[in-house]
Amino acid sequence: METLEKASAYYARSMDAADPLARFKEQFYFPQHQGKDGIYFCGNSLGLQTKSTPAAIQQELEDWQTMAVEGYFRARDPWLYYQYNFCKPLSAIMGCREEEVTVMNTLTVNLHLALQSFYRPDKQRFRIIMEAGAFPSDQYALETVVKLHGLNPDDAIIEIHPRSGEKLLETATILETIHHYRDSLALVLMGGINYYTGQFYDMPAITAAAHEAGAYAGWDLAHVAGNIPVKLHDWNVDFAVWCSYKYLNGGPGAVGGFYVHERFGNDAAVPRLAGWWGNDEKTRFKMEKGFIPRKGAAGWQISTAQVFNMAALKASLVLFEEAGITTLRQKSVQLTGYLESLLQQLRLPFEVITPGDPQQRGAQLSLFFPENGKNIHAKMMEQGIICDYREPGVIRLAPAPLYCSFSDVYRFYEVLKNF
Ligand SMILES: Cc1ncc(COP(=O)(O)O)c(C=O)c1O
Repeated sequence: METLEKASAYYARSMDAADPLARFKEQFYFPQHQGKDGIYFCGNSLGLQTKSTPAAIQQELEDWQTMAVEGYFRARDPWLYYQYNFCKPLSAIMGCREEEVTVMNTLTVNLHLALQSFYRPDKQRFRIIMEAGAFPSDQYALETVVKLHGLNPDDAIIEIHPRSGEKLLETATILETIHHYRDSLALVLMGGINYYTGQFYDMPAITAAAHEAGAYAGWDLAHVAGNIPVKLHDWNVDFAVWCSYKYLNGGPGAVGGFYVHERFGNDAAVPRLAGWWGNDEKTRFKMEKGFIPRKGAAGWQISTAQVFNMAALKASLVLFEEAGITTLRQKSVQLTGYLESLLQQLRLPFEVITPGDPQQRGAQLSLFFPENGKNIHAKMMEQGIICDYREPGVIRLAPAPLYCSFSDVYRFYEVLKNF
């Protein structure tokens, strides 16, 4: 009876009316379908543009136009210090100290930089544990770094597979594998949320197990940042990287996020690849020999801030600060739960492979179609439901809570009912 009531426009509208974040929808541009806003469930791939983004970019264009090089010091938001804008909002989202986080480069580049500091194999400790089916860029990064150290990836990289016949990884399996390789383990590197299944791993337990084994714990948080609040500092995570173009709405190819725990950020002796932007600001322009790292994550910066690339993210983070990551998460649990309950009413031949427990997932639900998934996805797109398809057989739906409504989820259900 309760589920029947939920499958109604009235129920969805009443949820929207009670939603403290409903007003944020108006702050975004939506792709159009037949003259109306499409149903956008693809924020796990590319977030939407905030309406404040064009003005944010325009501001930098104007300051460049009118001040040229002086803009580094005199722009309305001086470019020399541009990256400082991100420390406060990102520390709230990622659960860390402001000094522990920065933005620079892109995710995979930042992963490579972190690996220079946190993967320093020796004869005894040279193994890396990762999840099987990790995002390909992470696989390529690890494979090539291991080779760069003269090691064989087949020996040095241990991939954890789900138990036979299953799609999800049990925490126990991960912890057992870490324990099994404890004598040779250098690093555990996992995606916080697996991009394919949508499974959110037990980050504190896995980080603690890596440390107990004498290894570092690093995380690719591409699908976590702005989706699930985390506590990187308190969980003692060594390093983490993420992109800003998914839930954080920084735009295509937006600048990547980088976190390093303060015990490394405060230690100038931690090895790294350097450039002048990571050098102490007091001596940066003296143009002298001898790299003196800035404190915190900023000590890993290499090059001049890419202001145009960062302006959209800055505009979006203003909305995150207003909404608050905790409130966003509360809505997200409800919204994805609502989507899940309506999916259960459909007759389409799929299985939701994302965990049913909200604590083990973010906004995304992955629908596995044993056959025909690609065609069904194409049909959804034709009907103005924007989501994506990942081989093999998975349609990913991610109602991002900042701009998706309960009525969007209901409209989605209405369309799919007729498939
Ligand atoms: C989980 C994950 N890791 C890594 C990447 C690659 O990021 P980038 O292209 O910014 O290096 C992506 C991109 O979508 C991703 O989803």
